Amino acid sequence: MAEEMRIVLRNYGKVDPLNIDSYTQVGGYQALAKAKSMSQTDLIEEVKKSGLRGRGGAGFNTGMKWSFSYGVKADQKYVICNADEGEPGTYKDRIIMENDPQSVLEGMAICGYAIGANKGYIYCRGEYPYVVEILNKAIAQASEKGLLGDFNIEVRMGAGAYVCGEESALIESIEGHRGEPRFKPPFPPVIGLWGKPTIVNNVETFANIPAIVDKGADWYKGIGAAGYPGTKVMTLTGDIVNRTVIEVPTNTTIRQVLDDFGGGITGGKKFKAVQIGGTSGGFIPESLLDTPIDFDSMSAIGATLGSGAFFVMDETRDIVDVIDRISKFFAHESCGKCTPCREGTQRMHEMLHRVKNGGAVAGDLDYMERLGSVMSKACLCGLGQAAPAPVLTTLKHFRNDYTAKFN
Ligand code: NAI
Repeated sequence: MAEEMRIVLRNYGKVDPLNIDSYTQVGGYQALAKAKSMSQTDLIEEVKKSGLRGRGGAGFNTGMKWSFSYGVKADQKYVICNADEGEPGTYKDRIIMENDPQSVLEGMAICGYAIGANKGYIYCRGEYPYVVEILNKAIAQASEKGLLGDFNIEVRMGAGAYVCGEESALIESIEGHRGEPRFKPPFPPVIGLWGKPTIVNNVETFANIPAIVDKGADWYKGIGAAGYPGTKVMTLTGDIVNRTVIEVPTNTTIRQVLDDFGGGITGGKKFKAVQIGGTSGGFIPESLLDTPIDFDSMSAIGATLGSGAFFVMDETRDIVDVIDRISKFFAHESCGKCTPCREGTQRMHEMLHRVKNGGAVAGDLDYMERLGSVMSKACLCGLGQAAPAPVLTTLKHFRNDYTAKFN
């Protein structure tokens, strides 16, 4: 039986999110003090050595990202916490911020010290107004007690655009522009907010930082899968007995998550598929359930860990109907800046809708595969690149569900 391990959620239920004293009583802000006793380069090296990789979905080495910003001389640098969490089925960042906001602030302040930034922003999704309240109270308490030093944090609210979870669109949004991604390179660690070096990390990534600084890189890199160490916070939704949030070492398998924590499929029905990583994640059939959840193992089976959302479907679910709805979501959320995404998401949705309603024409499935392949390579940002993953993985693993719709 697999077991939970709480690093990110270490203070869940133990601290009062609205009372900073309860955080300092469990050792809060000792990691920031320890970090400041180290040189910036030693600190960045420690984070790099821990092997921590971004928990927003791209899995980039966090310490390495910080080293890019540290290496640029600038009169101003920024730290941004990506709390946009627009991925359907994903609510892990909400749980973290609601229950232990100070861990996130401390992680951001450690990053600020490491790269030489004195200004931080938390970009929180507009649908979480109560979380914004908690964050503002937490920031006020930390500032009042002088715990953040000269590091100043401000909360900015999103307005419901999914694309604003993409780091450069998020930056545009903070700058007061329409939320559209920028061309990369240059990457934000070098040229980011208002043209200055900017680190954008996910809530979960920042929440890991104090624990890593406190206990050391060797401790962290010994947990979970070697190439993607630590834990991952997962949200379970759909046809699963326990719709809940869990934190497990990254060498836990998909099957263990479903059975040991999820409690199996609801109503005694059979498993059909699980989509991992939210709407942009791939669909995984029964035969691949013994894959560990870590980033590289998931990529090796053509799937993504992404934000770690598990959307479980039982045997009665109509896969083509599900994909049709997902494709509608992407067609709606595409910002329209680049042609492969603007046109691709619309055409994909049209074809899926046709297949679902029994009106498929010859070559539709092959055409969808070709279009999906082009989109994953040619779209400007992660939205369009990831959008075809549900279509491509279901055409691979559940093709019969599509052909069954043919008249
Ligand atoms: P990316 O791999 O381009 O970049 C990851 C991070 O590393 C970024 O912060 C980027 O600035 C930095 N970086 C990469 N190469 C760099 C370089 N040469 N120099 C400096 N910094 C560099 O991925 P991106 O576009 O940030 O995100 C795409 C991923 O997001 C997809 O793989 C997908 O899994 C995931 N995704 C997550 C969603 C969510 O809601 N959590 C939704 C959709 C996609």
